[in-house]
Amino acid sequence: MIGTTPRGAADEQAAARWVRGMFGRIAPRYDLLNHLLSFNLDKRWRARTVAGVADILDRPDARVLDLCCGTGDVLLALEQRVRRPLLASDFCHPMLLEARAKIAARGLRTPVFESDALALPLADASLDLITTAFGFRNLANYRRGLEEMLRALKPGGVAAILEFSQPPNALFRALYGFFSARVLPRIGGMISGSPDAYSYLPESIRKFPGAEQLADEMRRAGFSQVRFERMTGGAVALHLGRK
Ligand SMILES: C[S@@+](CC[C@H](N)C(=O)[O-])C[C@H]1O[C@@H](n2cnc3c(N)ncnc32)[C@H](O)[C@@H]1O
Repeated sequence: MIGTTPRGAADEQAAARWVRGMFGRIAPRYDLLNHLLSFNLDKRWRARTVAGVADILDRPDARVLDLCCGTGDVLLALEQRVRRPLLASDFCHPMLLEARAKIAARGLRTPVFESDALALPLADASLDLITTAFGFRNLANYRRGLEEMLRALKPGGVAAILEFSQPPNALFRALYGFFSARVLPRIGGMISGSPDAYSYLPESIRKFPGAEQLADEMRRAGFSQVRFERMTGGAVALHLGRK
């Protein structure tokens, strides 16, 4: 369980470069494809994530970062609940431009910064909550990603990782596997104009560990009270862990 391995990327740096470039190419069509290819379920998954962290989020002094924020949908869902600016970061400039446009359109003033999730420009123990949706799977080194979250969290702080997962039911897993390997790359490639991005997507989902394995990895990295909730038959899982 080291990190993402896009085809042709020889080491972690090359993997990160490839991921950043790929998201940069699909940024303008990202939201449309997200909603389309998930049958709009992505909105429900994000809403569930917001509800899952409500206890910390609702504290008026809580410092919250949406990591790998992409075009900002989780961030906006979090801010809609708390009605105050949080923090958001991503290492892909074109995705951040999309996020900034959406933030500005809502008249919000969220500080958004460009940064690698593996080396955040934040002080130790400075955050109460880190959320990350569909970004963690793309990190070049999962252990380092978890350690960096732990470093930035205050003691008692929580990391919430929303990610694709492996459905436990064999029949559903097979159906979902067929959809993600055959249907998703065709539609995604056609609409985004970047077929490589939408062949990477199912491959990265297939290679990503199951929910129990990710929970174990979080415990090994140093998180406590690790728990997870499967959604949509386990195609997606929300993991929570406390520092
Ligand atoms: C699938 S998108 C998810 C975006 C958003 N969180 C959402 O729910 O729609 C993954 C995002 O993770 C970002 N990402 C991947 N690896 C990263 C890293 N090492 N550091 C910062 N951002 C990263 C990508 O640039 C991309 O915007």
